Amino acid sequence: MKLDILYASQTGNAEIVAKELYELAITQGFEANIDEMNNYSIKQFNELKNVAIVTSTFGEGEVPDMGIEFWEDLKISKVKLNQQKYGMIALGDRSHDIFCGGGKKISSKLDELGSKKIVDKLECDGDTEGTQEWSLNFLKELKDTNKK
Ligand SMILES: Cc1cc2nc3c(=O)[nH]c(=O)nc-3n(C[C@H](O)[C@H](O)[C@H](O)COP(=O)(O)O)c2cc1C
Repeated sequence: MKLDILYASQTGNAEIVAKELYELAITQGFEANIDEMNNYSIKQFNELKNVAIVTSTFGEGEVPDMGIEFWEDLKISKVKLNQQKYGMIALGDRSHDIFCGGGKKISSKLDELGSKKIVDKLECDGDTEGTQEWSLNFLKELKDTNKK
C-alpha cells in the first residue's frame, strides 16, 4: 500500500518525526515516500490516496518555510479530495499564542476539501512525545480502512 509523508520543519523536529514514521511504514511493508511539503503541487497532492502530514509551527501560528508555498496554494484551492485519507502530526509549543497553528490550519482545510482524517490529529507541546505511538496507530488504521 502506498503512503506519502509530507513534512515541513524549521529546526528539524518535524523532519525527525516524519523520518521515524517513514521507517516504521517501510518495516510494515508500506510503499512509503517522504518529501518536503513544498515539493508538491496541489495537482500532485490531489493524486495521493494515503497521506501523513508532519508540520511544526513558526512565526505566529505559521507553517514553516518548507511548507509555506504548498499552504498558500492549498488555502485557496477548491480541489475535491474525497478519495484521500490522511493523518496529521502537528508540532508546537503552548507558550505561543497560536498553539500548533500550522498543523491546525492545514488539517481544517483538508477536512473542508473532503480528505478523510482517519485518526485524530496529534498536537505535540514542546517536544515530540507520543509521535511513535500515534504513527503505529495511524499505520494500523490505514491498513484497516483500506481493507474495507
Ligand atoms: C521563532 C519560533 C516561533 C514559534 N512559533 C510557534 C507558534 O506560533 N505556535 C506554536 O505552537 N509553536 C511555535 N513554535 C514552537 C515550534 O513549533 C516547536 O519548537 C517545534 O517542535 C519545532 O519543530 P521543527 O524543529 O520541526 O521546526 C515556535 C518556535 C520558534 C523558535
